Amino acid sequence: MLVLGIETSCDETGVALYDSERGLLADALHSQIEIHAEYGGVVPELASRDHIRKLVPLTREVLAQAELDLQDLDGVAYTAGPGLVGALMVGAGFGQSLAWSLELPAIAVHHMEAHLLAPLLDQQHAPPLPFVALLVSGGHTQLVEVNGIGDYHLLGESLDDAAGEAFDKAAKMLELDYPGGPNLALCAQSGDPTRFKFPRPMTDRPGLDFSFSGLKTFTLNTINQLKLDGPFNDQDRADVARAFEEAVVATLLIKCRRAIEQTGVSHLLIAGGVSANQRLREVLSEKLPAEVIYAPLDLCTDNGAMIAYAGCLRLCAGEREPLGVKVRARWPLSELRHIASPKPP
Ligand code: KG4
Ligand code: ZN
Repeated sequence: MLVLGIETSCDETGVALYDSERGLLADALHSQIEIHAEYGGVVPELASRDHIRKLVPLTREVLAQAELDLQDLDGVAYTAGPGLVGALMVGAGFGQSLAWSLELPAIAVHHMEAHLLAPLLDQQHAPPLPFVALLVSGGHTQLVEVNGIGDYHLLGESLDDAAGEAFDKAAKMLELDYPGGPNLALCAQSGDPTRFKFPRPMTDRPGLDFSFSGLKTFTLNTINQLKLDGPFNDQDRADVARAFEEAVVATLLIKCRRAIEQTGVSHLLIAGGVSANQRLREVLSEKLPAEVIYAPLDLCTDNGAMIAYAGCLRLCAGEREPLGVKVRARWPLSELRHIASPKPP
């Protein structure tokens, strides 16, 4: 089954072609970084307008890459949430219209399920069930017990900011360019890990929930104190970035270890934009009593390939979305329907 996947939940327009027999055939991405950079964050209305401009050219591009045309498609998958409603409506409207005009089935994909499944896209064997997934993106930080595709049990989540959001806000305090997360990680590479020790929030009490807002305040107070003590230089910036990154990574490590102990699983999967963080990958792989799985870098942050793949799995299982443009800013993973096969038939 050949599926066109469409991602427009935030500030990347992603379109891809995934085939259940042949795998990923084409993948195109347009990032809106330049549009939002001058505002220091995503402007929802500008995001929607740019998705409108890019969907048709990117669809043409993936068809050309794979040397196929619209008549070869067997289904259309699009992100229906969670995300920015206006941006989601662009992808949903486009996907539903295309499917209707070609008389094809359409499927509404959950963005976080697509992130969760992305590391499995190019693997021969899925990890044994159940496994634990750490989903760390700009909007979510969740630990999920995965009992099957669509069978998700939430173990813990952030009570305030998501890990990616905290990275972005800390980057802004450090006057680093948007997008903050990757720039902070780059800056942290030249930081001294011994100069500051930042708190590891909510690790001194039981449970698997997270909170990153206190860490954000601690970061701001440290920067303000350094500015009072003298000129804030590049080494100060790198040292604060390093301390912040170490604190987030150490907190995630403690909670992942706890989740593994609690569930007794042998595999932990990390997914979402923050799973692109090299320090996080390194520390979790080295220190957890489980095999750690993650996606190639370009499949960690938002992309069309993961939507095409997740949509293909659900379409192959017979799921269909009725005609209409229905999107959801919030959408708990627990509401998804369980489907049997971890790989497309
Ligand atoms: O999954 P994603 O592309 O979009 C959402 O679904 O939110 O995640 C984006 C988030 C942003 O907050 C970004 O700063 C963060 O992932 N991010 C990183 C890195 N790359 C992306 N954070 C830390 N280190 C990175 N290398
Ligand atoms: Zn995402």
